[in-house]
Amino acid sequence: MTGEQWPGDLGPVVCVVGARPNFMKMAPILRAFAAHLPALPTLLVHTGQHYDKDMNDRLFVDLRLPQPDINLEVGSGSHAVQTAEVMRRFEPVLDTHRPSCVLVVGDVNSTLACTLVGVKKGVPVVHVEAGLRSYDRAMPEEINRVLTDQIADRLYTTERSALANLQREGVAGERVCFVGNVMIDSLLANREFAHSPEHTLAAAGVSPEVLRDGAGYGVVTLHRPSNVDRPETLRMLLGVLREAAARLPLVFALHPRTRANVERFGLGELLASPRIALLPPQGYLEMLGLMADARLVLTDSGGLQEETTALGVPCLTLRDNTERPITVEHGTNTLVGRDRAAILRGVDAIVAGTGKSGRVPEFWDGRAAERIAADLARWLIQRHLQSH
Ligand code: UD1
Repeated sequence: MTGEQWPGDLGPVVCVVGARPNFMKMAPILRAFAAHLPALPTLLVHTGQHYDKDMNDRLFVDLRLPQPDINLEVGSGSHAVQTAEVMRRFEPVLDTHRPSCVLVVGDVNSTLACTLVGVKKGVPVVHVEAGLRSYDRAMPEEINRVLTDQIADRLYTTERSALANLQREGVAGERVCFVGNVMIDSLLANREFAHSPEHTLAAAGVSPEVLRDGAGYGVVTLHRPSNVDRPETLRMLLGVLREAAARLPLVFALHPRTRANVERFGLGELLASPRIALLPPQGYLEMLGLMADARLVLTDSGGLQEETTALGVPCLTLRDNTERPITVEHGTNTLVGRDRAAILRGVDAIVAGTGKSGRVPEFWDGRAAERIAADLARWLIQRHLQSH
């Protein structure tokens, strides 16, 4: 079904973004809609969950995302407040625009909030990156994933294990469509525009000393509440990073939550080392360039586990579980938890050149968004015809 045949009375696809990890997923989807379904009306809604320049504005520019048509400006708050505010402000958008469907990505609070609103108003919801499970219900994202997938109407998956997870939860297989990974669409589309690490450090006013060690450097990101919200855990992890930095210099891009906690718990000293370069949250092209040239990445981010697998860079994930098992089974990812010995063993192996190598998973080929566009058009038209 092509865009030219789009029925005039079918409303827009309302595409929702809220937080940083949503932006790189939505950009290729909007581009694929524009290229393959030019007559399909879309409306980009930003909930405003992430709002500051580093977490938001730079990413929009880097990813060539159009400015949102609507910004709900919800900002920060407890989970209850943030979720409730998104719901309250999103409902009138659906009343006004009468969309053909709501498209949500990922697992942040905005994803679940907009899904709930859409489904309860009888607007079909499609979820991109469905079926991922860490089986750790202490993670807010896991709650968001489980609930979103239970009630959304069409589910697009990034890896085959997701279907089994969904079926275990009673989701019918015909609601699910394996399309591959839109995050990797973004990575491949932007690889050639990535900024050099030297440029990134210079732009942040940070001495490039860490890049001058002949052995290369590692990249660090940490932001999960389970790693950064308790003083004793954060102290321990920063201590291990300091030990790791003695083996390989590190570039550490600090998430606002982490930076605030480092200051609040008085742990700044642990990071004061000429072998650790501290950066604010980075733009997409800066982060891509940093990762692509790194010897290793140490992280608790979901996205970085996937991006390092696509780039072939070894990744040590500071979590006990992952909702992205293919990055461990096929990719370059190793789970090291918060285990000091395991983390340092992993760093040593990579520095010695015996780190893990992997292969790129099925359908992580830069064309996932195209597959979504094709399936979504077919699915929406079919529903439309059935309802007339
Ligand atoms: C959220 C997502 C998480 C994602 C992460 C990436 C949920 C439940 N979690 O977690 O899945 O991996 O984003 O960043 O939705 N803050 C700023 N500036 C901003 C945004 C946030 O300073 O632009 C501060 C907030 O005030 C808050 C902290 O960062 O104190 C956390 O932000 P929040 O959106 O609540 O959750 P994240 O930890 O970022």
